Amino acid sequence: MSDIWKALADHHAATKSLRIADMMTPERVRKFSAWLDDMYLDISKTSIDDTAFDMLLELVRERDVEGWRDAMFAGEKINTTENRAVLHTALRNLSGGPVYVDGQNVMPGVLETLDRMGEFSTGIRSGTIAAADGQPFTDVVNIGIGGSDLGPVMTTLALAPYHDGPRTHFVSNIDGADIHDNLAALDPARTLVIIASKSFTTIETMTNAAVAVDWLKAALGDSFGAHLAAVSSATGKTAAFGVPAERVFGFADWVGGRYSIWGPVGLPLMLAIGPERFREFLLGGEDMDRHFRTAPPEKNLPVLLAMTGIWHINICNHCSRAIHPYDQHLRRLPSYLQQLDMESNGKGVDRNGNRLQRASGPVVWGQVGSNGQHAFFQLLHQGSQIAPAEFLIAAEGHEPELKYQHDLLVANCLAQSKALMHGRDPAETDDPQREFPGNRPSVTLAYRKLTPRTLGRIIALYEHRVFVEGVIWNINSFDQFGVELGKILALDMLPRVQGTESAEGKDASTVALLNALKTGG
Ligand code: F6P
Repeated sequence: MSDIWKALADHHAATKSLRIADMMTPERVRKFSAWLDDMYLDISKTSIDDTAFDMLLELVRERDVEGWRDAMFAGEKINTTENRAVLHTALRNLSGGPVYVDGQNVMPGVLETLDRMGEFSTGIRSGTIAAADGQPFTDVVNIGIGGSDLGPVMTTLALAPYHDGPRTHFVSNIDGADIHDNLAALDPARTLVIIASKSFTTIETMTNAAVAVDWLKAALGDSFGAHLAAVSSATGKTAAFGVPAERVFGFADWVGGRYSIWGPVGLPLMLAIGPERFREFLLGGEDMDRHFRTAPPEKNLPVLLAMTGIWHINICNHCSRAIHPYDQHLRRLPSYLQQLDMESNGKGVDRNGNRLQRASGPVVWGQVGSNGQHAFFQLLHQGSQIAPAEFLIAAEGHEPELKYQHDLLVANCLAQSKALMHGRDPAETDDPQREFPGNRPSVTLAYRKLTPRTLGRIIALYEHRVFVEGVIWNINSFDQFGVELGKILALDMLPRVQGTESAEGKDASTVALLNALKTGG
């Protein structure tokens, strides 16, 4: 154990009995907060004190976060297990400065694809790129899963107030109910289908895409191709589905699936809000990149958020992370962050293949506020486990006529973090059932309004937070081998489910389940 880890653990043991509320002063808040333009991060409602703060900064230095950060932005192959650069940041590098991979500047290609997406989106939105019958498209269905779904669906919902394009729909699940229910409500003559898959091999997406293509063919005959588009890194595979070459939007293998919303995978968002606002979204990501690269660590939002994560997970042993956007439009953010965080940092070995000596990525979960308050906040306030909470809140909503409701929303958000911290004064009740122990940590991210630019900043903030934590744990945050075994076993299981192969040799529980499902239980 390096000295700094031990020093942090010792310090925590010695200061465990301190209460967050007792440490709270205006100076503390000034020190334990940071701004990026109108975005404000407050980590003062945690048990990190001045000494722990300095030690965590020291850990950031010792782990060479700045060196790894610069290596990532410079296109070095920091995804060592897959021998790939990690350059989702190039997709939002609107200033267009050169970014090299293997000696090649990738920016001309990135910007050209962005222009092509813009032309396509403008054409669909204006009707100059029309459906087979010459009429405009009214609906777009994105078929993808994981990073090819969560980014598009989360951001498209988040920016609903800015929609002025066709309606967007999202199909991801292999459960036939998903594609069935979506297509049942749509007219193939008016619908554009986007097949989104980085690999173009993912069984859920390929299966759903085949169903959608058949649906289009049945209604449109040979002109079905006019209703298709594809986004992928494997552009050669898209022709098999009949997608015309000019409607294929490619991206490089240095864009990880869960980091891909900034490029062609963002096409449904661009169709919904238009290329200009999509550009603002990218500018938001670029703002956060600049901040991450230039702000000092003690005022650097991703670094501060990561320090809080490390403190909670490794020092306090709080291994879950509850995300509570008090922002209805961010209702899919917890799901999005589940993939971003858990697929990136849910690892058990370090970069060199050595078993980790301490915990890595937390269990990420959450729910939009105020709904969560009426579901699981009971446990947050009185449960036997502590789940650090992360609140997101806008100063302004998009519904000025409902300002009273926005004020109530803000009041609820602030009341929750205060209640978690303070608890209830023991003098107020002698009934243990009604005790609130308090001293439960939270962080709050406040911003003026959920605009495209702000959304870009929020996503990039979390991306870089996950990155910093991964560097501190010395893990590769950019591969995802943990998803493979289930995929292989599912293919092996299929003929047993279909009854074309016997279940012999499978474990007793699986055999019994196969039989139960065959006989209806
Ligand atoms: O199975 C996990 C995963 O590979 C994710 O990393 C990815 O976002 C998702 O599947 C979808 O992959 P693709 O875009 O290649 O279809």
